[in-house]
Amino acid sequence: MGRLQDKLILITGAAGAVGSAMADAVVEAGGLAVTSDLARAAGMDHSLDVTSEEDWRRVIDDIDRAAGRLDGLVNAAGIAVFGNVEDTDFATWRRVMAINLDGTFLGCKHALALMRRTGGAIVNISSVSGLVGGHNLAAYNASKGGVRLLTKSVALHGARLKPQVRCNSIHPAFLEGPMADDLIGQTRNPERARERMTAEVPLGRFGRPAEVAEMCVYLLSEESAFVTGAEFVIDGGLTAK
Ligand SMILES: NC(=O)c1ccc[n+]([C@@H]2O[C@H](COP(=O)([O-])OP(=O)(O)OC[C@H]3O[C@@H](n4cnc5c(N)ncnc54)[C@H](O)[C@@H]3O)[C@@H](O)[C@H]2O)c1
Repeated sequence: MGRLQDKLILITGAAGAVGSAMADAVVEAGGLAVTSDLARAAGMDHSLDVTSEEDWRRVIDDIDRAAGRLDGLVNAAGIAVFGNVEDTDFATWRRVMAINLDGTFLGCKHALALMRRTGGAIVNISSVSGLVGGHNLAAYNASKGGVRLLTKSVALHGARLKPQVRCNSIHPAFLEGPMADDLIGQTRNPERARERMTAEVPLGRFGRPAEVAEMCVYLLSEESAFVTGAEFVIDGGLTAK
């Protein structure tokens, strides 16, 4: 038996680095990955803009009609934008909050309606930027800090349900993939920026999306049956300093 045998897991941002690694890990663990991303992404089971409540209702209804249950949700969709509090314009702030925080709220809210029937687990992908601040990450810090505490509120609510629904957050540092590439590409000297970021990590490298996915598998599986409302840091020691 796989660690997620026959469990139905909905993943947002599943065309991205973490989301696609997550889909692979679910299948590897014997589960069924239901993939979703923006309409422009190819090969997804559902087109789901996480900021659209209408999209969430449609996708959850579709899953209900097709399977009648949902065992897990991984809120992996997200964007990162550099900017300190003075140079972040309000439209950028609102876009980051809409995708990272509103999207996670809507996901927890609408998935719970189905998950509460059979019980299950939610994993919200926050960031080390949801734990510690950066001078040039005003919107991202705020959105990911919000995900951290939203997770605890959802966990406490889910613990009161019968059957119960668990909810935990994951806090990665820099990961290999397009998000870090884009951010590094915005700096004046990308090569130097990558070196500096790598040197900041005690384990001396960026994380791999598959390593984050492995942590999600644990949090979605019965192995973590007594774990809820908790923060899982996967950062090569970055925030231990
Ligand atoms: N990559 C990193 O270094 C890193 C570090 C810490 C935390 N994280 C977090 O991990 C999560 C996954 O990041 P990733 O590295 O896979 O990034 P990624 O850019 O590879 O993937 C993000 C995915 O989210 C999708 N997306 C964007 N807006 C969306 C919307 N409105 N609705 C639905 N999907 C949308 C994109 O299309 C993309 O496929 C994000 O929440 C991110 O903040 C990433």
